[in-house]
Amino acid sequence: MAIIAQLSDIHIAAGRGGVVADDSGPVRALRAAVSSLLSLPARPDAVVLTGDLADGGRPAEYARLHALLSPLPMAVYPMPGNHDDRDALRAAFHDHPAVAESGVLPQAPLQYAVNVAGTRLVCCDTTLPGSPYGNMDAERLAWLETTLAADPGTPTVVATHHPPYPIGIPFLDDLRFIEPAGFADVIGRHRQVVRVISGYVHRGSVGMLAGRVSTTCPSTYRQLFLDLTSAGRAAVTGEPAGFAVHLIGADGGATTHFLPTGNFRPLMEVE
Ligand SMILES: [Fe+2]
Repeated sequence: MAIIAQLSDIHIAAGRGGVVADDSGPVRALRAAVSSLLSLPARPDAVVLTGDLADGGRPAEYARLHALLSPLPMAVYPMPGNHDDRDALRAAFHDHPAVAESGVLPQAPLQYAVNVAGTRLVCCDTTLPGSPYGNMDAERLAWLETTLAADPGTPTVVATHHPPYPIGIPFLDDLRFIEPAGFADVIGRHRQVVRVISGYVHRGSVGMLAGRVSTTCPSTYRQLFLDLTSAGRAAVTGEPAGFAVHLIGADGGATTHFLPTGNFRPLMEVE
């Protein structure tokens, strides 16, 4: 079984002078999430970061992110979100082979596939630089098709920043995939895909895409207000920050847990 932890929407932010303050909210929140991960009795095999890793896409933000993740002993797989800059992200994580090899041209999509303890993790780039919208153009869909066709026998998790299913928050749903049908078609053709996991929403949710259970992940920092009437502006709440842990079996079974950031030591034993 593969255990894949998912951290999302970390939003490390530089303040005045381009410096990331040590006591800033996102920094403290990521530190707590890393410490929560390390306190799990069954250590995840890998951690995937589903976008919005830096708030402003600045090199100083990625440098701090990289340093804050350094206590994690397992592989960490970063992906871009709409707040990120592909090239700055790639430069900061050049020590990650899959990331370094994911593109040589400026602003090439940051997409790659890796093997995690017998499960395949396919990281897509759904960003449109300079825009909050999500999309996979024909080139990226062709890459996904070829990548999935290359290994039809291994249980596979496909990761995106923008969720490809409706969340129910009107303004967010307007900003998800511009054309989700093409993405759903590709997923539908490849039976080994057992989960599609996303970020962007700053909330845990469960939906369906092409017959597969699909999820979004809480933010390690701030959660989005669940306002199903909201046609306009986003609001964040004081709900606990959190992350997700996906268990993927060799037989294709998949279970997702949502955890608030915190201390996981047992308080007492129960019968
Ligand atoms: Fe975000």
